[in-house]
Amino acid sequence: MSDHEKQTGGAAFAADAVDYDLLAAQMQALAEDVESEISNLANASALLYQTLADLNWAGFYLYQSGELRLGPFQGKTACTRIAIGKGVCGTAAQKDETVVVEDVHQFPGHIACDGASNSEIVIPIHRSGALYGVLDIDSPLYGRFGAEEKEGLEKFVSALEKVL
Ligand code: SME
Repeated sequence: MSDHEKQTGGAAFAADAVDYDLLAAQMQALAEDVESEISNLANASALLYQTLADLNWAGFYLYQSGELRLGPFQGKTACTRIAIGKGVCGTAAQKDETVVVEDVHQFPGHIACDGASNSEIVIPIHRSGALYGVLDIDSPLYGRFGAEEKEGLEKFVSALEKVL
């Protein structure tokens, strides 16, 4: 494995590749008979944080009163309110699509909650066809999130949506 691969992800994660189908199944199992959505979001953030390598933040912003508000997470304390259209989270919410950022320092309007973050993925979450919030994951590595992570984490969000 080259230093570049270590730095940027890609093949660096092949050795301990994440089984995203298993991760989605674990989420569903954790949520069985759990009625509180906060409990499910809290366990979801812990599951992601303990399973995926090289993260410094994993958690949720919930769409409430027309803005994104901090939900359950793992990592350092974070900003509590994000306007729709602002930062990576607000952009993903506004576009209603996953946003993958290889280098957050190049993303106009990126909101730096933890200075250690260098790459990020944000995936919108829906309930009853409407925006519910976003899953936000940060890494100190550049380019930590690629096509495989996007597909796998979107699968994870689909599983999570079923228990919200
Ligand atoms: N970086 C995010 C803000 C949230 S923190 O990363 C936890 C953004 O630009 O929306």
